[in-house]
Amino acid sequence: MRILVLHGPNLNMLGTRQPEVYGSSTLADIDASLRELGAELGVDVDSRQSNHEGVLIEWIQEARGVYAALLFNPGGYTHSSVALRDAVLAAELPCYEVHLSNVYARESFRHRSLFADISQGRIMGFGAEGYRLALLGATARLRGPS
Ligand code: DQA
Repeated sequence: MRILVLHGPNLNMLGTRQPEVYGSSTLADIDASLRELGAELGVDVDSRQSNHEGVLIEWIQEARGVYAALLFNPGGYTHSSVALRDAVLAAELPCYEVHLSNVYARESFRHRSLFADISQGRIMGFGAEGYRLALLGATARLRGPS
């Protein structure tokens, strides 16, 4: 089973970007921890980051039929990108929305997510740990009741 993790714009800056909001883990830390957890769970985890909407769209399109699920932190595009939302719908793979911060405790423009109603699950406010929780939840969901 393969799971794709996509990180949107500015998440390459984790570690130095507003650590009081996003924590001190770097993106490399998060991806390494997901690979490790994936190995424990018997899941292949591929992680990618881009600051470019079109690149993210192409990766989501290519994921169709290849990956079992998508863990997606669209960053600022969460609140604005109809095109990324359309790509997720077109890819027909279960999407789990992840945010490091609790977007509802922040500015009102962050309260709207274009992915909320098309995601199987959403995790926010747990910092880097949220990605691990999403991987555990997505894997459990894919495997079905034990
Ligand atoms: C974020 C929240 C977004 O509002 C913001 O634009 C980000 C990161 C998060 O992980 O908390 O870039 O998605």
